[in-house]
Amino acid sequence: MLQTLMRVKPVEPAPHVDAGEPVEGSLQGEATLKRTLTARHLVLLGVGAVIGAGIFVLTGQAAANHAGPAIMLSFVLAGLACAFAGLCYAEFAAMMPVSGSAYSYSYATLGEYVAWFIGWCLVLEYLFASSTVAVGWSGYLVSFLTTTLGLPFPAELASAPITWDGAAFVRTEGIINLPAILIVAAVSGLCYVGITQSAFVNGIIVAIKVVVIAAFLGFAAQYIDPANFTPFIPENEGPGRFGMEGVFRAATIVFFAYIGFDAVSTAAGEAKNPQRDMPIGILGSLVVCTVVYIAVCAVLVGIAPYTELGTAKPVATALELLMRDNPAANLGWLKTAVEIGAIAGLSSVILVMLMAQPRIFYSMSRDGLLPKLFGRVHPKHQTPHVGTIIVGVVACLLAGFMPLNVLGELVSMGTLIAFATVCLGVFVLRYTRPDLQRPFRVPAFWLVCPLGLVACLFLFLQSFMEHWLIFVLWTLVGQVIYFGYGYRNSKLNKAR
Ligand code: ALA
Repeated sequence: MLQTLMRVKPVEPAPHVDAGEPVEGSLQGEATLKRTLTARHLVLLGVGAVIGAGIFVLTGQAAANHAGPAIMLSFVLAGLACAFAGLCYAEFAAMMPVSGSAYSYSYATLGEYVAWFIGWCLVLEYLFASSTVAVGWSGYLVSFLTTTLGLPFPAELASAPITWDGAAFVRTEGIINLPAILIVAAVSGLCYVGITQSAFVNGIIVAIKVVVIAAFLGFAAQYIDPANFTPFIPENEGPGRFGMEGVFRAATIVFFAYIGFDAVSTAAGEAKNPQRDMPIGILGSLVVCTVVYIAVCAVLVGIAPYTELGTAKPVATALELLMRDNPAANLGWLKTAVEIGAIAGLSSVILVMLMAQPRIFYSMSRDGLLPKLFGRVHPKHQTPHVGTIIVGVVACLLAGFMPLNVLGELVSMGTLIAFATVCLGVFVLRYTRPDLQRPFRVPAFWLVCPLGLVACLFLFLQSFMEHWLIFVLWTLVGQVIYFGYGYRNSKLNKAR
């Protein structure tokens, strides 16, 4: 049995592929995904997936309660862990341009059991993250409609009926989070129709959010007050509150902000020239986002006291505080633009996450680890349409009815495990298959891979210590599905 759990899916050196050519071993005559994406699309997909709730929602709490102005340092630390992982993703994605991302890479290196576990963790990353961000989107939209535009919106239609108070589920005043359901449904419809259309809409949304962020940096930076930067690392006030400990705690929280650059790798099956463009897409989007994050944080804590930033819309709050303390700063228009940018920004995160999840399921189904319907491709749109519908329905239910406060950390835990495994996988494959052609190679892999592994596990443990029970339960459900279905139906069974 151990041998079965450890069996690996053999990797063959990927031939050079061109636009329109399938690379995955699909059955003859069967529809495959369409190769249309260029390097530019891929960078935009990455930026689309990354910049969202992390910077527009979580930064404020992380600065106000954990790191103070040193939130910039927290972003650097989380960014470093992602940079190590990003390099490893780039090596794999160029070498194995398939849609399964970390799942497929683990299958080729660490065996079927680990691969299933990673695939299951990726559900946390993509499916749960899309619902979590949809709830944040709903919050921004309702606040924009009611506060900025003065339009009424019934509160009970913008909140889940239950919440988790730390010990049990309790009833709220809400009935359903309707805006969250509507955005997930609309985005799923787009994903159903096609990758080209999705990438096009994503490009427009990314342009809006980048322009808004540039405007924020350009117009607000002149009001930075150096006094707001001291003390840079406020003195420790207890577990996880300020001091270096707080900076690390904030790094785990803002890690969420980087999630998504790896989603680029799930589009590898649809890239025109994946060997060249995957590394550009993954590393390019990571560099752009890191620079943007550190700059936004510098302006954010520079224009307002960090102690007052702990709201659900810290970028808008910082501008409000600036106008309160400096009435000459006439930036009301910028605050409105930031709100619109956040609404746009969060929708592209939902879009890329909802595109990524069915593609992971597609790969798992093609390997026999999930039912065949997840591997079906629409004859006309060439998208994994059945998987897209199933993922969309589950994401709608989660977004509309479930309390998602704890799930944000669950998303980060799942992602960190996937990142750690990819770092380990690159290391292992360098020794087990040195012969494979690697269009991109991690520099000094003997250092970068272990550093990535340790950094990701360190951040994982910070969350795990608090939320271990829910993570263990999630893993157990995954085991039941694997042993109930995947173990018996794996294509590698038939290959023996
Ligand atoms: N990185 C994505 C966000 O911050 C998940 O919303």
